[in-house]
Amino acid sequence: MVYNPKLFIAIDHSEEKIAKDLIQRLPPKACGIKIGKELFTACGPKIVDWVHSKGFKVFLDLKYHDIPNTVKKACFAAAKMNISILNIHALGGKDMMLSAREGIDKSTNKPYLIAVTILTSMNEDTLKTIGLKSSLKEQIKNLALSASQAKLDGIVCSAKDILNIKKILPKDFLYVTPGIRPKNEAEDDQKRVMTPSDAIKCGSSILVVGRPITKAKNPELIVNQIIKEIS
Ligand code: C5P
Repeated sequence: MVYNPKLFIAIDHSEEKIAKDLIQRLPPKACGIKIGKELFTACGPKIVDWVHSKGFKVFLDLKYHDIPNTVKKACFAAAKMNISILNIHALGGKDMMLSAREGIDKSTNKPYLIAVTILTSMNEDTLKTIGLKSSLKEQIKNLALSASQAKLDGIVCSAKDILNIKKILPKDFLYVTPGIRPKNEAEDDQKRVMTPSDAIKCGSSILVVGRPITKAKNPELIVNQIIKEIS
């Protein structure tokens, strides 16, 4: 699915002032803001309101993973914040995802509900150490299929995974891809990375980029470079 904006910036800070200073240096017409666990835990729902007041769409990246009833209620509460995208972990299972769907459907604001398949910081070795026996590819495929059967709107995955799974998923599925690194950038703790243009070529609907922008001297410049690269 084509989504606007195609770029969300991960603001992974727990200090409200640092986060706000950074967000004010970003162009709301070109990108949305991903608020994750660090910032939300530190600042709460008022940071979501503040980001909206600056003209940005919000992707609330709290990756819920709990018993179905708890996740349903958490999704309902999150949707009330007028966010545009919300996520849960597909590893929570199909019943949990169906309950999350119910929680969103009960709300008047309906953010896109997407499921994290396997974190882009994990690889085959990580799966083995937690006892998951099938290959990374198989795991991602099963989790993505399960998310579509639970009527979710899309998944969070590595852009590298899209080609392998696209054919078994709905045409209007949303592919949200972290692990994006412009050429010659450090990979940091990401293990499966791709450049912005390659990710879009692979079918990514939304690129999630954090450190290459948040640690840059001129974050707006990097945003504009990425937008130019993918247009
Ligand atoms: O700094 P960097 O570009 O690596 O940030 C990526 C962001 O995307 C982080 O906020 C991380 O929590 C999130 N994310 C991820 N891999 C996933 C899901 C979310 O890196 N599978």
